[in-house]
Amino acid sequence: MSGDDTHQVLVTQARHEAEGVLSLRLRGDGPLPAWTAGAHVDLVLPSGLVRQYSLCGETDDPEYTVAVLHDADGRGGSAEIHTSGLVGRRLLIRGPRNRFALEPAASYVFVAGGIGVTPLLAMVRHAVGEGTPWQLHLGGRRADTLAFTAELRRLAAASGGEVSLRSDDVDGSLPLADILAAAPAASAVYGCGPPGLLTALDEVAARTRPELPVRFERFAADPSGGVDDTVSVTGDGGFEVELAGTGETVPVPVGVSILEAVRTVRPDVMSSCEEGFCGTCETKVLEGTPVHRDTILTERERARGTSMMICVGSCSTARLVLDL
Ligand code: FES
Repeated sequence: MSGDDTHQVLVTQARHEAEGVLSLRLRGDGPLPAWTAGAHVDLVLPSGLVRQYSLCGETDDPEYTVAVLHDADGRGGSAEIHTSGLVGRRLLIRGPRNRFALEPAASYVFVAGGIGVTPLLAMVRHAVGEGTPWQLHLGGRRADTLAFTAELRRLAAASGGEVSLRSDDVDGSLPLADILAAAPAASAVYGCGPPGLLTALDEVAARTRPELPVRFERFAADPSGGVDDTVSVTGDGGFEVELAGTGETVPVPVGVSILEAVRTVRPDVMSSCEEGFCGTCETKVLEGTPVHRDTILTERERARGTSMMICVGSCSTARLVLDL
């Protein structure tokens, strides 16, 4: 991995935050870039896996903090973090990037499922600093799986915010209709968590409080698709990609993604989800017309056509020039 936004960090601490949740503190060789609530970093693990984690510490802390849920059914990144003893190891990170930025609002309603609390914790801190009223509703499988509850309660006590904690086994799932019905006028709703929770939040908000802005960050692909199904996921093929940095040209055959094609000459190009939802493979487009299949870019960003997720995107011109 290379680039201006890549940094070496030392893992200075790993701390148990809740059942299955470990936080890591990361110290840069020099000052790490400033970040805003909602930002995430790409973390390159010793195995080479790349995973995205929201920054959840204080924005003025010289070290970054991320928190990782051990997902036994995941693809190995969280297991590696939980089991490989990273304290004292040096890792690479890329970023921070923020695709879940907090917009100014009269008040905030935060809805979190499980480890989805991490970006929202940073948002709560921002709201506290701004003096903006806030409430946070956090649900999880059991009470002992809910992370950062003491910190959230402390922030609520210090600022007049509200924290509501629910565990599925005792309280049932988050009462989204009630939460939205009670949301103050002119509030903004931010949700982060499993796809099912966010889909339900989106549906209930659209039905009951359509005037409220609702923003999400998903930790998995949108189960509804959310992409242009007229284009195959692995690209239409039949075009070529030029890498502007070296002038190399690679053909993109039918059934092969741009990412796969580029990797035949540039094996270090970063990716993680390879499903168009994490943003790791975002690449600037210098020439040609990309066809987008990710679930990250906004309509305006798609229309601009100046960047794309090359793991799923395609091209409607014979040639695409990428800033690689
Ligand atoms: S690797 Fe995740 S969007 Fe491409």
